[in-house]
Amino acid sequence: MSTTDSPLLLLVHGPNLNLLGERQPEIYGHDTLPDIESDVAAAANARGATVLSFQSNHEGALIDFLHQHRGQASGVLLNAGAYTHTSIALHDALEAIALPAVEVHLSNIHTRESFRRRSMIAAACIGQIAGLGRAGYTVATNLLLDHLEAPKPSP
Ligand code: DQA
Repeated sequence: MSTTDSPLLLLVHGPNLNLLGERQPEIYGHDTLPDIESDVAAAANARGATVLSFQSNHEGALIDFLHQHRGQASGVLLNAGAYTHTSIALHDALEAIALPAVEVHLSNIHTRESFRRRSMIAAACIGQIAGLGRAGYTVATNLLLDHLEAPKPSP
């Protein structure tokens, strides 16, 4: 984990989230991925942190991104899209990089189809924000930074 004074957060989005704004706006809203990335950057910058954003429709590319930046990053904000419900590989990647991660969903996955209620990655995250729409990302950013700034118990 980075120990610099300016923590780097990885903001990672999985499949179909590049289409935010036009994809099922009645569920996911009218805001675009750049809108969300800009919210997270603003929330992070206000607390002296920076953000590196990435989106892919490919599971392996998401894992490669996490691996590539594990040495510089302090934490992860992850909306894995549908891979949330299927990807043991993403769960394992989060455990492998050993960075605190917050799982984010625009919609409330617990009130939708039953197949969305199970998250494969939740057990590798410090928490989950679901159903708050775009605002959930600002909440998640602040929670992650709170976690990073909290005093660590001495070994
Ligand atoms: C989502 C919820 C997932 O079930 C879905 O597959 C998505 C978006 C959300 O942000 O609400 O792609 O992660």
